Amino acid sequence: MGRADHISKLYTALGANSFIEPAVALESASAPLRRLLDQLSQGAAGALRPAELVEGPRGEVYSDPLAPKVVVVVSATGGVGRSTLVAALASGLQRQGHPALALDLDPQNALRHHLCLGGDLAGIGATSLLNQTWEALPERGFAGCRLVAFGETDLVQQQSLTRWLGQDLEFLGKRLAGLGLNGQDTVVIDLPAGSTVYLNQAMSVADVVLVVVKPDAASFRRLANMDAVLAPYLEGESAPQRFYAINQVDASHAFSQDMAEVFKLRLGDAVLGEVRRDPAFCEAPAYGLDPLDPALNSVGCQDVNALCRALKARLN
Ligand SMILES: Nc1ncnc2c1ncn2[C@@H]1O[C@H](COP(=O)(O)OP(=O)(O)OP(=O)(O)O)[C@@H](O)[C@H]1O
Ligand SMILES: [Mg+2]
Repeated sequence: MGRADHISKLYTALGANSFIEPAVALESASAPLRRLLDQLSQGAAGALRPAELVEGPRGEVYSDPLAPKVVVVVSATGGVGRSTLVAALASGLQRQGHPALALDLDPQNALRHHLCLGGDLAGIGATSLLNQTWEALPERGFAGCRLVAFGETDLVQQQSLTRWLGQDLEFLGKRLAGLGLNGQDTVVIDLPAGSTVYLNQAMSVADVVLVVVKPDAASFRRLANMDAVLAPYLEGESAPQRFYAINQVDASHAFSQDMAEVFKLRLGDAVLGEVRRDPAFCEAPAYGLDPLDPALNSVGCQDVNALCRALKARLN
């Protein structure tokens, strides 16, 4: 498909009312973006005001050298690459010498696939319902990073968990404390999209919340929704820091790159990094390989490594 076709498709998807001649479309495709950029630079866009960068606490949260750092990965909508990035961050941090544990707090129980740990792994769902600790749950994944899976659960079990988590706000904190982690460890938490009891639990232990967005108009329009969901958790002195990762930036697609720029203008320093679209993220695990393996030398690997370094710098 040529660029003009992409642009006309995009226009349709964005709700433009009529087909635009390809030649015109090529010329005018960036006009809405340009308008958006102008609005942003003039600060006239109301809802598009640059978000306030949430400063981290000055010592309170990190005052316990024995506590692991907790990074919570969220998004407003599904399918943006949360699980992909949780697995990649865990593997990447571990490869950079920082012990990491990926925790699946999504009943989809899919994170294990991203770390090539299949089968019927025991997980937090059934284990918690049996009132057992999580001590025996961590499994070694890529590069030696650990995974605590959600595990297979049926609808009734999920409903019981939802009720329990809604009542016991210290559920996650207490169970993490039983995993024997220390100040060298980083826990990276995967969640379902949007506002859930799992998000509520994760935010109660978070040092950093990393919002994953895709460089498209839909993701951009949902920023305000995510801001509203996170707002109550970002108040107070010991609130977590909030950052953004722009995932699936298509280096061969001008619009994708333009949208990434729009996000950066809107979010400023809160953008922790970009991860380019890279087939290695879906292909490598299919062959049992880690997309972060330096031997694969994928562009996604380079980007995630940069993201890991930026994350560690903020956490420290
Ligand atoms: N940077 C990337 N480059 C290429 N493909 C990617 C990238 N990030 C994610 N993907 C692909 O996008 C798809 C969705 O990713 P993933 O399952 O991680 O999203 P999710 O946000 O966790 O989705 P869900 O809402 O279902 O939990 C997968 O096929 C994954 O391989
Ligand atoms: Mg997922």
